[in-house]
Amino acid sequence: MHYFEYKNGELYCEGLPIREIAEKIGTPFYLYSYNTLVRHFRVFDEAFDGIPHLICYSAKANSNLALLRLFVNLGGGVDVVSGGELYRALKSGADPKKIVFSGVGKKEEEIESALQAGILLFNAESFQEIEKINEIAGRMGKKAPLSIRVNPDIDPKTHPYISTGLKQNKFGIDILQAPEAYRLAFRLPHLKVIGIDCHIGSQLVEVEPIVEALRKLKTLVERLREEGMEIQYLDLGGGLGITYEDEEPPHPVEYAANILDEIRGFDCTLILEPGRVIVGNAGILVSKVLYTKENEEKRFVIVDAGMNDLVRPSYYGSYHQILPVKEEMRKTRVVDIVGPICESSDFLAKGRTLQELQPGELVAVMSAGAYGFSMSTNYNSRPRVAEVLVRDTEMFIIREREDYEDLVRKERIPDFLLM
Ligand code: LLP
Repeated sequence: MHYFEYKNGELYCEGLPIREIAEKIGTPFYLYSYNTLVRHFRVFDEAFDGIPHLICYSAKANSNLALLRLFVNLGGGVDVVSGGELYRALKSGADPKKIVFSGVGKKEEEIESALQAGILLFNAESFQEIEKINEIAGRMGKKAPLSIRVNPDIDPKTHPYISTGLKQNKFGIDILQAPEAYRLAFRLPHLKVIGIDCHIGSQLVEVEPIVEALRKLKTLVERLREEGMEIQYLDLGGGLGITYEDEEPPHPVEYAANILDEIRGFDCTLILEPGRVIVGNAGILVSKVLYTKENEEKRFVIVDAGMNDLVRPSYYGSYHQILPVKEEMRKTRVVDIVGPICESSDFLAKGRTLQELQPGELVAVMSAGAYGFSMSTNYNSRPRVAEVLVRDTEMFIIREREDYEDLVRKERIPDFLLM
């Protein structure tokens, strides 16, 4: 069952023609399918039935309040990496006892707000951070629930920018130093050490690296237990990949089965932090063709969405399928789909064979639900786009398009310049 589908040559999101949405609110906009989001969350969650587990949706993939609330309604927790994401999670109604706080650079005030909120645990990533959390908890008269993010030194076989579990990456504490980190944490008076954590990378298309990471974590936990240090939560992070072009990542059920085989009987609650696999293929970016032009070498289709709206193609060289919203039997062209930003790296796709497109026509940039809006910027002073959620035949604007006033709201011209 697909919720982005052609009916009589027109691309729909669930029961609504995308053209109708564009006519109502203009372009560009991000568009999410409610029923896809629900299905993806449920499939992932249910795949782990049979052992105690908690799905902490990784807010960084898409932190819109409506999406967070949707997952909260389905029983999900949230993985946050900043005070801002914590704020969003709480605002969306997430149970603080289902919030985990990861990230290499947590600031004092962020740690304080998380302690104040009573989150489930911190995933600490350095010796100094462990001491800092202890110090702040002491000052606040609290005991901070702590887990240690271990860097297992495993190659996740993904893009170098989204590999996180190798020695050369800044993330976590080297697995060889982890026992020492645990000894320190168990000694400190204002910490309650409860877990172990890792996240080896994103857009993983093989299950072996994650299983290998899990084995290493288990060995470590066994060793800690021998020393009398009990661990209740094992967090495997996120990372499961999706199909953008022709990748064949394991299905969540297969991914879960491999993990379950390893962890059954291990006596701890499993935490998972999926982002992309839940939202990636549940969202698209809809844009309008402004102009086309060609020279001897190239044909360009210039659209009204750019790298400020979706940075993945220019930043990681990522592939996103481009579909015409109205599909017709026309002659095809090999084109670069580019945006309006003044950078040569501002492209959404290169060398694609597409039906000939005319100004005013709509295109859908597929698989844009994860790290799309959440990585968008105002570069070139372009207001950030609207976000729309469709459920059956109803549409809901879940983020209004920014306007020019939004762009300058926080800016001030000092008086002396106004003389
Ligand atoms: N947990 C932690 C600690 C993470 O660092 C991440 C992602 C996740 C969970 C969620 O990973 P996912 O399930 O979405 O793979 N901007 C890049 C992806 C960066 C991922 C960063 N960390 C992209 O557009 O591909």
